[in-house]
Amino acid sequence: MEKVIDLRSDTVTKPTPEMREAMKNAIVGDDILRDDPTVIELEELAAEIFGKEASLFTISGTMSNEIAVMVYTRPGDEIVVFSDSHIYNLETGALSAISGVQPRPVKTENGIYEAGLLKQAIMPDGVQRARTRLICLENSFHLDRGLAVKRQDYEETIEIAKEKDIPLFMDGARIFNAAAALNLEVKELVNFCDSVAVCLSKGLAAPLGSILAGSRGFIEEARRIKQRLGGGMRQAGVIAAPAIIGLTKMVERLDEDHENAETMRLGLEALGIRVDRGGILTNIINLDVSPVGWESLSLAEKLNQSNIKAKVCSKDTMRMVLHNDIEPKDIDFVLERIGKIIQRVQ
Ligand SMILES: Cc1ncc(COP(=O)(O)O)c(C=O)c1O
Repeated sequence: MEKVIDLRSDTVTKPTPEMREAMKNAIVGDDILRDDPTVIELEELAAEIFGKEASLFTISGTMSNEIAVMVYTRPGDEIVVFSDSHIYNLETGALSAISGVQPRPVKTENGIYEAGLLKQAIMPDGVQRARTRLICLENSFHLDRGLAVKRQDYEETIEIAKEKDIPLFMDGARIFNAAAALNLEVKELVNFCDSVAVCLSKGLAAPLGSILAGSRGFIEEARRIKQRLGGGMRQAGVIAAPAIIGLTKMVERLDEDHENAETMRLGLEALGIRVDRGGILTNIINLDVSPVGWESLSLAEKLNQSNIKAKVCSKDTMRMVLHNDIEPKDIDFVLERIGKIIQRVQ
């Protein structure tokens, strides 16, 4: 069967042969009874990697995000979010449906709160006011752009959060990509956050799962909420085993994805396509095809005929995500196909 070059997302990555083997051999127990040694190993490892006291293995990034919000808030509270964030836009309204919180969205171009806007978004005291209980961040920012936000760019946010005594939560679905692009250990990038969520099923190529990390007390409460949401798992070691490989073996190869993304970017620009360069790029390319006279949907349909898949973001823009299942020769093929299509050779 001809290879499908799937650039829609890094979530499409298949577990590696080593992951499959680890799944087969995983020692398991009942995780709700805290008897699954592989889950315990994963949670201890992740806590160490994130520099936090404890961590919790959950089914998905969405579940980790929503659990975090539930730990910090009560119905009627407010949380501050980026208007373009996943937690605000792509979690089926869970903030209000599950936590009963009111999100207060703040516009950002680059994944950093402008200090004045953040201060304005935090409710003053008052009997008519909701209480602002959480400030959410996202790094890399955002899912269609993948910009790595530098540690030092958070200083003002940290200061405001401290002054107002509001915890900081990091949706770090792709924080390993951000850390790799910034040449940092991931713990250095989240040491100012009260808690952090990361996806194991994206660049790290595990079949599913996410980690939520924070203080021991935070994780204890998070574990109860995970259970309440029906997220308690039994012999979860079979899915924790590939996640351990994700954390120990796949992080170091993310630079390859970033190099491939750079090759793709240069190739696309050479074809006259505009690429979003509004920050430090990671494994995500956001491209505007209007300069070459195309609309993204028509180009995506054409590419699909050559077994190349990309995500359409808007009339003019598309997303391509580089990941473990994409090799340099796939990039050459994609660039060649796009070149021919836009010149209407075929
Ligand atoms: C920034 C961000 N946060 C959270 C999620 C949710 O992850 P999941 O699909 O595992 O629920 C995603 C998924 O794409 C994401 O990009």
